[in-house]
Amino acid sequence: MEIKELLTEDLNVKSFIEEKTNEISTTVGSGLAINALSGGVDSSAVTMLAHKALGTKLKTYFVENGLMREKEAQRVISWFKELNVPVELVDAKDQFFDSLQGLVDPEEKREAITRVFYKEVFGNLVKRSGAKYLLQGTNYTDVEETVAGVKRQHNILEQLGIDTQEKYGYKLIEPLIQLRKSAIRQLAKALGLPKEIYDRPPFPGPALAARVIGEVTPQRIVTVRKATSIVEEELSGSGAFQYLAILHQDKVTGTREGKRDYGLQIEIRCWESIDAKEGSPTRLAHDILEKLAERITGEVTGVVSVTYNITKKPPSTIEAV
Ligand code: XMP
Repeated sequence: MEIKELLTEDLNVKSFIEEKTNEISTTVGSGLAINALSGGVDSSAVTMLAHKALGTKLKTYFVENGLMREKEAQRVISWFKELNVPVELVDAKDQFFDSLQGLVDPEEKREAITRVFYKEVFGNLVKRSGAKYLLQGTNYTDVEETVAGVKRQHNILEQLGIDTQEKYGYKLIEPLIQLRKSAIRQLAKALGLPKEIYDRPPFPGPALAARVIGEVTPQRIVTVRKATSIVEEELSGSGAFQYLAILHQDKVTGTREGKRDYGLQIEIRCWESIDAKEGSPTRLAHDILEKLAERITGEVTGVVSVTYNITKKPPSTIEAV
């Protein structure tokens, strides 16, 4: 089925909400549906839409995959508690790390995450809950990039010819599939989500694994997580579209206290973009870059080099993996 983009300027938020809530409740009928909330604007908007449509016939899960940012699970669950939407935490850390063990190829890592997420974690939750549908916030850019062969976005299944009913035992409902990010932000605001959510910079489905070049291990995630916190603290006021820290695979020679220190490299990226389809690096002031380098080499164990990416997308992509 061909998906037609719904442009932000053509979006009537009120009627879109009405249309989608009707569609969701008709599709699910008297049954149950589940959805995965990651705390990003897309999955948050879907959670609110589905909650509006289904009430107690919806069960929302936050999957702790071990690859999230610092204190993310508590933060997201407490935001939704304020909105009276119950969210259940599912601990799947070991399953994700086991599946990533030994993998270095970016597409293999993405595939492993997709498999654990949809087959193991959600396959089991569907069995346990008796739900027949999984709602998720796939957007138009995800579809476009996967179909174009840029990157396999973790949440693209049907457009790759995957029959989720046959493979995982449930059907997908993807209410945002015609929208790009700017339209989803408008929708999220209209659905009553707080500014912290509707204005949140995008974060990839494969989480910090999209920012680790080479093998993803618990220890390497600790490193990139800490660097991410520093980058987010320092750049949240920049007004940029997205900012991130990447852990490189290669080590480089550094020096500390007069001795050789063969250590890790962190790359910072900070993007100007409207919808992540194209992007250019923010012209950050040099003193901000210097502060980032000082904090990351001082506070993240083992890091001796910090670089700033000055490449546009294309040919770069926003994330490294
Ligand atoms: P790339 O790296 O492809 O990223 O230029 C484009 C935008 O999408 C986010 N991203 C993802 N989002 N699932 C998602 O839901 C994914 O697998 C995924 N990979 C990247 C990325 O952060 C950027 O905003």
